[in-house]
Parts: sequence; C-alpha cells; structure tokens
Amino acid sequence: MTVQIRAATAEDAPRVVEIYVDSWNAGFTGLMPPIEADDARIQRWATDLANDRTSWWVAEADGSIAGLVGIGPSRDPVDPQLGELDTIAVDPAHWRTGLGTNLMHTALDALAAYQQAVLWTLANYPQGQRFYESTVWYADGTTRADGHQVMFRHDLNR
Ligand SMILES: CC(C)(COP(=O)(O)OP(=O)(O)OC[C@H]1O[C@@H](n2cnc3c(N)ncnc32)[C@H](O)[C@@H]1OP(=O)(O)O)[C@@H](O)C(=O)NCCC(=O)NCCS
Repeated sequence: MTVQIRAATAEDAPRVVEIYVDSWNAGFTGLMPPIEADDARIQRWATDLANDRTSWWVAEADGSIAGLVGIGPSRDPVDPQLGELDTIAVDPAHWRTGLGTNLMHTALDALAAYQQAVLWTLANYPQGQRFYESTVWYADGTTRADGHQVMFRHDLNR
C-alpha cells in the first residue's frame, strides 16, 4: 500500500465526512449515538476544512482518501499557546494498518510549534486510549461532561 499525506481542501469534504461517520459509527458503538453523512454535515466540514484556525490533512492509500487529522489551538481550555488534536479518524477498512500512526506523526510535527498539546476523548473507550498511548499521549486526569470525556496531553518537545 502506498500512503501519501497531503493538506486537505474543501473539495475533500464528502469523502472526509464518509470516513468520519463510518469510523464514528464503528468505533463508538454503544458509547455514542450513530451519526449520518448528510448534506448539512458535509457543508459544515467543507467550511471547517477551509478555515484558517485548524490545519487538516488527509491520508491517501493507493490514491484514495482513507483517513484524516486536524490540529489547531486549544478550544477547551481556550489557549492560543496550547495545541489541540482536533480530530483523527481512519476508514474502518484500514484500521490497524498504521495509517492512524502515520497521520498522528504529521499532526505531532505540526503541533511541535506549541509547548504542549491536549485532546479530548471518551472515558470508556480503551481502543482510542491505547492508540493515543502508542503515540506517547497520556491521560492527565482532567475530565469534562460529568466524567464522560477525558483529556490526554502530549509533552511535544521533551
Ligand atoms: C483510533 C484510530 C484513528 C486508529 O487508527 P489506526 O489506523 O487503526 O491506527 P494504527 O494502525 O496506526 O494503530 C497504532 C496502534 O494503536 C493501538 N490501537 C489502534 N486501534 C486499537 C484498537 N482497536 N484496540 C487496541 N489498540 C489499538 C495499537 O497499539 C496499534 O498498534 P498495533 O496495531 O501494532 O497493535 C481508528 O481506530 C479510528 O478512526 N477510530 C474511530 C475514531 C476514533 O476513535 N478517533 C479517535 C478517538 S476520539
């Protein structure tokens, strides 16, 4: 499999949403309600992919988009000095092939402009947490949403 990572554009929105929705519904079964790839979601993503606040990349596997990642300044807490991994998702057909790690390395390279970075994930989601730990993120004990979401942190330059 040939993998290429490139900056995302608004034109990628339909395929990005397909992957986001499929990976959400496969990964969060029993944890979150299923979601749909409707026109409104595609339109929101087209706007997000084109904004200046967040940087987005897609991974192409043998020429087809198979994953995405986005980073930007932290939204919770709001802190322009703190980086945030916004979203990472891989097409379920490509899970456990290293694509997520590949995308994460791109994100971490860009996050190195910050001293530290955070991300929020579900509390009862060991698969996601194993993935984050495999790229040296750690749970720092911060929670929100009544403990349903947990913060992970990355000490980027250490
Ligand atoms: C999390 C996600 C991005 C991982 O993508 P991926 O391409 O499968 O990740 P990789 O193949 O690079 O996996 C790297 C390591 O992470 C860990 N890991 C990944 N998926 C795992 C799982 N389901 N269970 C346990 N560990 C897992 C493993 O240590 C794995 O290494 P290994 O395959 O050599 O054992 C993908 O599963 C996904 O899109 N999930 C749905 C959305 C999601 O969970 N997003 C992030 C949380 S909010």
